[in-house]
Amino acid sequence: MTTTRTRVAIVGAGPAGLLLSHLLEQAGIDSVVLDSRTRDEIEQTIRAGILEQGTVDILAEVGATSRVHTTGHRHDGIELHFADEAHRIDFPSLTGRSVWLYPQHEALIDLIAARLAAGQDLRFNTTVTSVEGVETASPSLQGTDAEGQPFTIEAEFIVGADGSRSVVRPAVTGSRNSGYFREYPFAWFGILCEAPPSSEELIYSNSANGFALISQRSDTVQRMYFQCDPEADTEALSEEQIWDELQSRVPNTELKRGPIFQRDVLRFRSFVVKELRNGRAALVGDAAHTVPPTGAKGMNLAVADVILLNQALQALLLRNDERPLDRYAETAQKRIWKAQHFSWWMTSMLHLSPESTEFDQMRQLGELRSVVESEAGRTYLAEAYTGWPFQTEL
Ligand code: PHB
Repeated sequence: MTTTRTRVAIVGAGPAGLLLSHLLEQAGIDSVVLDSRTRDEIEQTIRAGILEQGTVDILAEVGATSRVHTTGHRHDGIELHFADEAHRIDFPSLTGRSVWLYPQHEALIDLIAARLAAGQDLRFNTTVTSVEGVETASPSLQGTDAEGQPFTIEAEFIVGADGSRSVVRPAVTGSRNSGYFREYPFAWFGILCEAPPSSEELIYSNSANGFALISQRSDTVQRMYFQCDPEADTEALSEEQIWDELQSRVPNTELKRGPIFQRDVLRFRSFVVKELRNGRAALVGDAAHTVPPTGAKGMNLAVADVILLNQALQALLLRNDERPLDRYAETAQKRIWKAQHFSWWMTSMLHLSPESTEFDQMRQLGELRSVVESEAGRTYLAEAYTGWPFQTEL
């Protein structure tokens, strides 16, 4: 059994855990980051890719986005398609901000490289089995390392940044699943294909056949999604059927077809824990909340949590001031619920629900029209999509 002492033990080497470790390091606070996955798994798992400007700025500040300006693309707007019409929402003229399309795994490659280059403690393939003493000043973690050996980490604070199946969550909330929860009767069928972009900007389409999203990855690889049944079998459709399905949902844009090399079904739901902090443990990112992907908020919301928790931990560990930590949960929840609402709203406005009646479909078109035909409507969407300013004081 090996025992390590550190100030902050962070479970989860996703964007939230890694970013927090970098911010703490900048303040001279050491941490250990643990993840049950291998480095390859983390760096190769395909996730969504929209970063708010504030997210890009903070990643740059910790020296982890050297490639965002070369591999990423700035997007100054999105297109909303419905009723055979195309409407563009122009972000800079409405909010003065833009977003960046930079897939999450690229940001993770940068964050991991920066941490390893600085010689910091980052352990892959390491399973945490128990979290103890969070209601004392010296909480600890127990688990098994990459060689199967048991270990203990003694810390002053424990952070659960370990995603929707968080092992830290029960120590914070008292149960693995308690929280505010909503399921949706549809999912996304996602593809990656080798083809040139079909559109310069993302297209979010509400069509009579259901939702589709046309996104990009690079000049030669594209990412697209269409709404499907949560139980859909990814292998049940031929490539031609997939293309026909997608094309039928974006009748205004001719899709450039190419070989499909990855297919996945993304089920989605909305979830927020009731407790974000208990004593000397707190949750950030997907361990604390899940949003449906339609609003592109997931990673950005994790970054917003981390910015707050970083301040709270600096106050606690550098100045012995617990008050910011006492405000962490309440402050973080405010943004979390705004993002929950936005993600739910984009989802409900753009998807065809199996229960929806003709009335519901006509009402959705009225809702979309009220957004695109009003500057106030467009501005609400643009503000939420590009991200509300991060709160930097707790
Ligand atoms: C993606 O490119 O994977 C993507 C973009 C925007 C979303 C969701 C996913 O809202």
